[in-house]
Amino acid sequence: MPATAVIGTQWGDEGKGKIVDLLAADADMIVRYHGGNNAGHTLVVAGEKTILNLVPAGVLHPGKICVMGPGMVVDPDVLIREIDALKTRGYLTDDRWLRVSEQAHVILPYHRSIDRARERMREAGAIGTTGRGIGPAYEDKMARTGIRFGDLFDEEGFREALARSLREKNDYLQALLGETPHEASDILELARGWRARLAPYVTDAGADVRAAIAAGKRVLLEGAQGMLLDVDHGTYPYVTSSNCVAGSASAGAGIPPQAIARVIGIAKTYTTRVGGGPFPTELDDALGERLRADGDEYGATTGRPRRCGWFDAVVVRQAIALSGVDGIAFTKLDVLTGMDPLRVCTAYEIDGRRVETPPATQRGWARATPVYTELPGWTEPLGAAKSLDDLPANARRYLEFLVRTVGAPMVILSIGAGREQTIRLGDVF
Ligand code: IMP
Repeated sequence: MPATAVIGTQWGDEGKGKIVDLLAADADMIVRYHGGNNAGHTLVVAGEKTILNLVPAGVLHPGKICVMGPGMVVDPDVLIREIDALKTRGYLTDDRWLRVSEQAHVILPYHRSIDRARERMREAGAIGTTGRGIGPAYEDKMARTGIRFGDLFDEEGFREALARSLREKNDYLQALLGETPHEASDILELARGWRARLAPYVTDAGADVRAAIAAGKRVLLEGAQGMLLDVDHGTYPYVTSSNCVAGSASAGAGIPPQAIARVIGIAKTYTTRVGGGPFPTELDDALGERLRADGDEYGATTGRPRRCGWFDAVVVRQAIALSGVDGIAFTKLDVLTGMDPLRVCTAYEIDGRRVETPPATQRGWARATPVYTELPGWTEPLGAAKSLDDLPANARRYLEFLVRTVGAPMVILSIGAGREQTIRLGDVF
């Protein structure tokens, strides 16, 4: 049984957590394959809110195997806190349900220091990172100086690798960033605690995923962030440090590309972004404020207010093209109740030319202005709808317009945070 990947088609925060939690009911294994605790997946089950930063969103279904794949960067302290919080609430009662790849990279305290100090130095040009050390950890991975979870358990090898890395990092932190250096002894002490707590979970998780696929299990690949934050295809340099397109699921989970049979793209019915960088349909006015308030648009990880704007079909179309999206899950349609008229960006105008695909350069993004189509709104609350027929005619028209403009069928519609506030329109496995 091949795998299904779930990816974000905008700048993250599309509601992937809720959709993965929903689909996990029909899956055997849920795999996160990139990113780290820059992600924040909010789930509401029976009125109780859970925010997951690292553990896959399948964890609220007892018995499902949750895998943190080789492509992730993981802060061990955050993972331990998340495991403890889940256990306290009665989840993860069996340690065999969580697997952490030996190949996943460890976020160390100096990665966080570098991330935050660099952002301070950038001042107005800051990327607006989450400050969790994600970029510096991926840099070390690519520079081949990173430390992986498997390395933690080779105490002598870890000590040597840490000493080598610290020599370089401390020079950089002190001389260029004006920060205080880190002591090896402090990190070695922390690592003793990590080993003791995380040993039950650390394994060759990629092999587990391949075995599950070979055994015909249903595997769900859980993306983080969104296409526009992809390090190659997003609004570079205002992006995260990993690939967010579906292609990255293969390397990041340790499976061949043919194993991914379906890709579900998640799209909010308007647009948000956290941090700096281009956002052509941003609403810098009372309408934007209203979306933020009604949609509770504050970062699940950092609490930062999200920038809000109209739905941008140009970026979602690009996400569909880059990831081979088979079906879209549209989320948060309920938030648009009471806004009239609604606007949808169908193209950009750049230097007087109409373009239907996003620019590839910073210069292009800076010149892109949205071309809008206006649609009538509705006033009825949507949260109780059980089928598309229960929606007001203008809400259905709005959705039909989105589907036509982005060019992919709708397979799920989400009209509230609860599991039950979801309309399923097709099978995703
Ligand atoms: P980093 O991933 O912490 O390096 O942050 C780089 C950019 O990606 C910043 O603009 C962040 O706000 C954004 N970002 C990272 N993770 C997420 C996410 O899960 N949702 C939304 N934005 C994110």
